[in-house]
Amino acid sequence: MKNSVRGSVDPFIVMDVMEAASNKEKSGYEVIHLEVGQPGTSAPKMAAESVKNKISKSTMGYTVALGIPELREKIADLYLRWYNIQVEPERIIVTPGSSGAFILTFTGLFDVGDTVGVGSPGYPSYRQILKALSLNTSIIKTFNNNKFQPVAADIINNSLDGLLVASPANPTGSMLNKYDLEKLIDACKMKQTVFISDEIYHGIEYESKAVSALEVSDDCIVINSFSKYFSMTGWRLGWIVVPKNHIRQFERLAQNMFICAPHISQIAALGALDASDELNLNLKTYEANRTMLIEELPKLGLENFAPPDGAFYFYIDVSEYTNDSVNFAKSVLDEVHVAVTPGIDFDPERGRKTIRLSYACSTSDLKEGLKRLEKFMSKYIIK
Ligand SMILES: Cc1ncc(COP(=O)(O)O)c(C=O)c1O
Repeated sequence: MKNSVRGSVDPFIVMDVMEAASNKEKSGYEVIHLEVGQPGTSAPKMAAESVKNKISKSTMGYTVALGIPELREKIADLYLRWYNIQVEPERIIVTPGSSGAFILTFTGLFDVGDTVGVGSPGYPSYRQILKALSLNTSIIKTFNNNKFQPVAADIINNSLDGLLVASPANPTGSMLNKYDLEKLIDACKMKQTVFISDEIYHGIEYESKAVSALEVSDDCIVINSFSKYFSMTGWRLGWIVVPKNHIRQFERLAQNMFICAPHISQIAALGALDASDELNLNLKTYEANRTMLIEELPKLGLENFAPPDGAFYFYIDVSEYTNDSVNFAKSVLDEVHVAVTPGIDFDPERGRKTIRLSYACSTSDLKEGLKRLEKFMSKYIIK
């Protein structure tokens, strides 16, 4: 039996690193996890309460394909709370994670052979999902001086069917301000390129608030998730906001592809949306961790990074020490039992000289991780 060509996607390297770290743990080592982009905290207590209250009273059967109406209303309310904008609940489509949202969006909007632009470095699964759906990826090389984000010229000088942008971004944590977002969206309108905004890290921002594409235009697709700010990665729940004339197309696809997002997670999300007090405590941890890394990383010889505007990552240029980030990450894991992600996950070419650290863990884990990294880095530092 043959495998499909379109299905022969690259591995998600961070998952491979997680597996290597887990094997180390099985051999009795205590590993500090700075590789994985998931909060070290569990789902908010109000999410668990919501499930507890419903689980014995409901069959937990299928929900309607677009999601429980009450949940769609509460998500619409989030747009009012966070950005002071009105979004009609009918435009919200609840999905199995934002990962499910990408499949739905790409299938709903594009035909085989269409081309979608994604920034590099960027979240690796974008290009792999596009490939698996027989769509082309146009890699847009981004640079530090543009906050590692695409710019209007990248759209004007290309013929893209879609552009997918994340702000705050993974792996850099960089954010687009409203002016730059407007310029990108205007360029997309001019070229009839669909603008898709991955807003999965909204809510986790430091010096200024992240701007939603919906504050600029209703004529775009916005994707979000309960994984990051809401600390619910394994619950597999996300959502899309679509323009009104796309609702039925996305609904038909959702019915056939997923039937519905996990019912129990939708119930949990109803509680999570009321849990801002608890969730804002997580933000305090991220803030403290970010400050610690800004101060401590340069002391270890890891000074080539731009402090993140949002999310919980540092993307560090380690070209002084290696041009093989996979091997570098492997040595860090083998020698001091700290898991970090090699940059090639995010940028197959330049990522050979970068690593990503996630600081979504507890502050005490991060302190221990830094202590171990200091030991690892000491071999490179000339005393
Ligand atoms: C930028 C970005 N988008 C989407 C995802 C997928 O998240 P999920 O499917 O858990 O919603 C991730 C996960 O790390 C991410 O970093």
